[in-house]
Amino acid sequence: MNPKLGLGFLLLLLLCYLIDSKCSKGCDLALASYYVWQGANLSFIAEVMQSSILKSTDFDTILSYNPQVTNKDSLPSFIRISIPFPCECINGEFLGHFFTYNVRSQDTYETVADTYYANLTTTPSLINFNSYPEVNIPDNGVLNVSVNCSCGDSSVSKDYGLFLSYPLRPDDTLASIANQTNLTQSLLQSYNVGFDFNQGSGVVYIPAKDADGSYRPLKSRNSRGRCCWHMHSSSRGTVDVIPGSNSNKPVDATGSQGLTGITVDKSVEFSYEELAKATDDFSLANKIGQGGFGSVYYAELRGEKAAIKKMDMQASKEFFAELKVLTHVHHLNLVRLIGYCVEGSLFLVYEYIENGNLSQHLRGSEKDPLPWSTRVQIALDSARGLEYIHEHTVPVYIHRDIKSANILIDKNFRGKVADFGLTKLTEVGSTSLPTRLVGTFGYMPPEYAQYGDVSPKVDVYALGVVLYELISAKEAIVKTNGSSAESRGLVALFEDVLIQPDPREDLRKVVDPRLGEDYPLDSVRKMAQLGKACTQENPQLRPSMRSIVVALMTLSSSTEDWDVGSFYENQALVNLMSGR
Ligand SMILES: Nc1ncnc2c1ncn2[C@@H]1O[C@H](COP(=O)(O)OP(=O)(O)OP(=O)(O)O)[C@@H](O)[C@H]1O
Ligand SMILES: *[C@@H]1O[C@H](CO)[C@@H](O)[C@H](O)[C@H]1NC(C)=O
Ligand SMILES: *[C@@H]1O[C@H](CO)[C@@H](O)[C@H](O)[C@H]1NC(C)=O
Ligand SMILES: *[C@@H]1O[C@H](CO)[C@@H](O)[C@H](O)[C@H]1NC(C)=O
Ligand SMILES: *[C@@H]1O[C@H](CO)[C@@H](O)[C@H](O)[C@H]1NC(C)=O
Ligand SMILES: *[C@@H]1O[C@H](CO)[C@@H](O)[C@H](O)[C@H]1NC(C)=O
Ligand SMILES: *[C@@H]1O[C@H](CO)[C@@H](O)[C@H](O)[C@H]1NC(C)=O
Ligand SMILES: *[C@@H]1O[C@H](CO)[C@@H](O)[C@H](O)[C@H]1NC(C)=O
Ligand SMILES: *[C@@H]1O[C@H](CO)[C@@H](O)[C@H](O)[C@H]1NC(C)=O
Ligand SMILES: [Mg+2]
Repeated sequence: MNPKLGLGFLLLLLLCYLIDSKCSKGCDLALASYYVWQGANLSFIAEVMQSSILKSTDFDTILSYNPQVTNKDSLPSFIRISIPFPCECINGEFLGHFFTYNVRSQDTYETVADTYYANLTTTPSLINFNSYPEVNIPDNGVLNVSVNCSCGDSSVSKDYGLFLSYPLRPDDTLASIANQTNLTQSLLQSYNVGFDFNQGSGVVYIPAKDADGSYRPLKSRNSRGRCCWHMHSSSRGTVDVIPGSNSNKPVDATGSQGLTGITVDKSVEFSYEELAKATDDFSLANKIGQGGFGSVYYAELRGEKAAIKKMDMQASKEFFAELKVLTHVHHLNLVRLIGYCVEGSLFLVYEYIENGNLSQHLRGSEKDPLPWSTRVQIALDSARGLEYIHEHTVPVYIHRDIKSANILIDKNFRGKVADFGLTKLTEVGSTSLPTRLVGTFGYMPPEYAQYGDVSPKVDVYALGVVLYELISAKEAIVKTNGSSAESRGLVALFEDVLIQPDPREDLRKVVDPRLGEDYPLDSVRKMAQLGKACTQENPQLRPSMRSIVVALMTLSSSTEDWDVGSFYENQALVNLMSGR
């Protein structure tokens, strides 16, 4: 690599990190959706929502955004009205605005958030931004009330530059909001990635019309850059950042302003008709799998073999997480997302992986047993796919549902990690992310199962379990004698074996019987020890995915049947590592 090019790349990565977690600039206008509770009136609302844009007695400004309100003296209850306010980049951390609230006797943080600010703010954020103790808010005190906002996102659409901060109520759904606003569900979800609209609470951002009744387009330079850059070496030999998929604007490294408009290339959108035709109307004959979020069908689409995952609407959160991740991430050891369709159900179109899942190869009767060298290779492939998302994508991702059903085998018996449906966008060091327990029992480390702690070490643990599976062909949860309803994890089983000073005899007993005698015990022992290191209780003691890749490369190059291509690659790295 040309050194200049390498420096440019590093600089971009650095900028990317800086931009991703923080805002750089706000916008002059946002709207707050205020749900009029019984007893509220315009003077109260204008008072608590006053700002540089709205004076406390300026009802006309409110009315200009709310043509449905005809009489300013009698505001009907249980409707929503839109209140204009400025949207600022606060401390470079988030987009929002601080309102000030004059405390009245008996006020609590909860009534201020839930009633007076109609859930536009939250009790935890009031506690966070105000020093008064919860139990003792002084009368006549003044509270800092933060309300979040959005200025748009050029990677989603340039047509929308004004957004309503909309606190969800229990009867709101993605469908009902789409219906009311005449916007598509996928557009709404794109502005609220990973957000479950059916949860009945929380603030979402909805494109809004200006006082003149039309959408205000996104002004260039006021959006937050998101790190979805596709780098191409052009024929001129310079590094280009591609905004959208067509124009090649060279990056302006002098400031963040040049970063607007940077976006992903759109994945292909398919119509329902096309997908139905390609799967013979989603016939049972075409069904190749069933997972937690839907069914998978074989398809022939535009001359390419594809796997289509059909999910019901409830899965929209998983859908968008999966979509975002996979369209951004390209790696030989990760299953590629070709496109999608949002019509009725949600459909994801993946490259078809010829040889099914690892689980079926290890335990299905219809497949020949995998030779040991292939198992080592599949372990290495999986680790490489994971190392890529842990360390080389910006921001980094954690898979969270690694298991043998999510490792697919291609026609050359190489492994590919599938199913980023459960992946959450995870920035290292961020603690503000809402965590929900996703994953599969038998593969979840204790800190995750008990406390929901998420780190790359969650995937390391799960991969350790997969290593044990490759050795033993047993399920992650070993069913012991059926009646007792007792089940034992593969981790505990191997721990008992490996705790012995010389585990070789007992190790032979847990090796997949279908391997016969065709395995080097030493290699098996090393893989088992790697599995043990990965499944340690203390996440910090587990190796990084990077070290696992190195360990498996060494194992793979010392295993007989490795191919010549990977020899040179491995040897170079092994030399590099040992020469340090
Ligand atoms: N791209 C693909 N190519 C070929 N087969 C696939 C592909 N994607 C999925 N499959 C098959 O469909 C099965 C089900 O996949 P799916 O991801 O829906 O469920 P799962 O992996 O069992 O569970 P989860 O929903 O937790 O990921 C897979 O195990 C695999 O056999
Ligand atoms: C407006 O509502 C506030 C809060 O409920 C109340 O204190 C005030 O008296 C009301 N004002 C009028 C004019 O109704
Ligand atoms: C705010 O949220 C709480 C809890 O969901 C709900 O009870 C209350 O009615 C909401 N307030 C408004 C004004 O919508
Ligand atoms: C505003 O956004 C920040 C950062 O995303 C979040 O931590 C906070 O809880 C939000 N505050 C409110 C009041 O919704
Ligand atoms: C409100 O925020 C300002 C500025 O950060 C701070 O000085 C003040 O103490 C805060 N008010 C309370 C009640 O904590
Ligand atoms: C969507 O809105 C139309 C009218 O605009 C209405 O007839 C229909 O019932 C609504 N559908 C849903 C699901 O709310
Ligand atoms: C919704 O959009 C459709 C087509 O884009 C249009 O015909 C219809 O009038 C719109 N309805 C509303 C209420 O804006
Ligand atoms: C794996 O593949 C087989 C065969 O396609 C399929 O029946 C099964 O549902 C898949 N998933 C698991 C967990 O085995
Ligand atoms: C499991 O069941 C078999 C017979 O069904 C029996 O021989 C064996 O002792 C049992 N093992 C345990 C651990 O209960
Ligand atoms: Mg899967």
